[in-house]
Amino acid sequence: MPQTARLTIGKTEYEFPIVEGTEGERAIDIERLRAQTGLITLDPGYGNTGSCESAITFIDGEQGILRYRGIPIEQFEQHPNFGEVAWLLIFGRLPTEEEYTSFSTDLTEHANIDEAMKHHFEGFPRSAPPMAILSAMINALSCFHPEVFTLEDPDHFQMAAARLISKIRTIAAYAYRRSRGMSYIYPKPGLRYVPNFLHMMFSQPYQEYVCKDAVWDALNLVLILHADHEQNCSTSTVRMVGSSQANLFASCAAGVCALWGPLHGGANVEVLQMLEAIHQGNTTPEEFVRLAKQEDSKARLMGFGHRVYKNFDPRAKVLGRIAERLLAGMGTNDPLLEIARKLEEIALSDSYFIDRKLYPNVDFYSGIILRAIGIPTNMFTVMFAIGRLPGWIAHWWEQNETPGTKIARPRQIYTGNGATDYVPMNVRS
Ligand code: CMC
Repeated sequence: MPQTARLTIGKTEYEFPIVEGTEGERAIDIERLRAQTGLITLDPGYGNTGSCESAITFIDGEQGILRYRGIPIEQFEQHPNFGEVAWLLIFGRLPTEEEYTSFSTDLTEHANIDEAMKHHFEGFPRSAPPMAILSAMINALSCFHPEVFTLEDPDHFQMAAARLISKIRTIAAYAYRRSRGMSYIYPKPGLRYVPNFLHMMFSQPYQEYVCKDAVWDALNLVLILHADHEQNCSTSTVRMVGSSQANLFASCAAGVCALWGPLHGGANVEVLQMLEAIHQGNTTPEEFVRLAKQEDSKARLMGFGHRVYKNFDPRAKVLGRIAERLLAGMGTNDPLLEIARKLEEIALSDSYFIDRKLYPNVDFYSGIILRAIGIPTNMFTVMFAIGRLPGWIAHWWEQNETPGTKIARPRQIYTGNGATDYVPMNVRS
């Protein structure tokens, strides 16, 4: 295979190096393109642009493969431990027992938030979207932990990472409780990551929430399967903000905002609303699929399609299995699962979806699991954010530790007016 690419512009030929990743994916290194040719590339949506080299997560969208630090995500189904996966993503390998214990202790010790932070929650209306609160509170957190402004040494960084991973669930749980007019529930040091989160969400001062093992495993896996997905919109946002040397908390707060959109993390809410609309008889699976295919309709089959996967999203396969297992374990049934299976069956045998290689993605089944656990729909994207946080932190740190990292600053092709004179208001027509 050639190690360079040739580009001919007019009569001049230029040569650019080809970079190859460890799994054989290749890219033309155009870092010197503008310097050599005076031209830039135009790639709206960045579908053909590699913004960095990264050793965290590998995706093969054609074959439906997803690996964290080389480990296929399916293997975590037998080892559902979100804290361990967070450490793996951030530090590059599975932790030793000692490392894991120290990280878990940090997570436990830093679960509570400063009393003064609780006043910030009081300023939001009850109906405030939890993603807005989450982003604002993560940003506010840096005011209480100013050491995050200068994280040069790895030990400091580990402490900041653990603080954020721990406190995000406390913030999320209190955002939910405030919206219901319920009191703050203090974290309980004896509980692990997932049960402690569910305790802060659902316990009452007079009645403790008891986390069933099936729920614990299912939520651990939901978080793990959301933990990283290389250069997606929110992670790219975290890197973009971090590239200006903004601190870790500010960068992750920006990631929350990017995740909020319905084409990204917000899709899990839209999926549930779609399934509920069908269940309530407002539409049918067939009608919904027909509408999603219509060129002039804005409707899309939510939870279907992906920029990178042109095959099954491996996360959707695992999540489909977890949904079945959890409902069976709880001895319940959810008609929405049957509706989702029906939609999947119709879409996967329809040439529109086959030709465009549109398959269920991570958001298609996750909502059914969260709903079974009792998480309200408006908290679904918050759950995605809790899961994705270790990925954001891993990318922020990887970028921070890469020598020669530059501020991210794309260019553009200007299509506006040519030079135009200012016209005073009194003579404008
Ligand atoms: N339903 C109907 N048609 C679709 C869908 C869908 N869900 N997704 C893509 N298409 C069509 C689209 O209309 C276009 O058709 P045509 O070529 O005739 O114009 C073609 O497929 C390619 O779509 P695209 O929008 O150019 O693809 P993209 O890579 O820019 O978008 C996507 C990817 C995920 C935004 C899109 O598939 C989508 O909107 N899906 C629904 C929302 C969703 O489930 N988002 C969650 C994504 S996974 C988790 C995450 O990233 O947070």
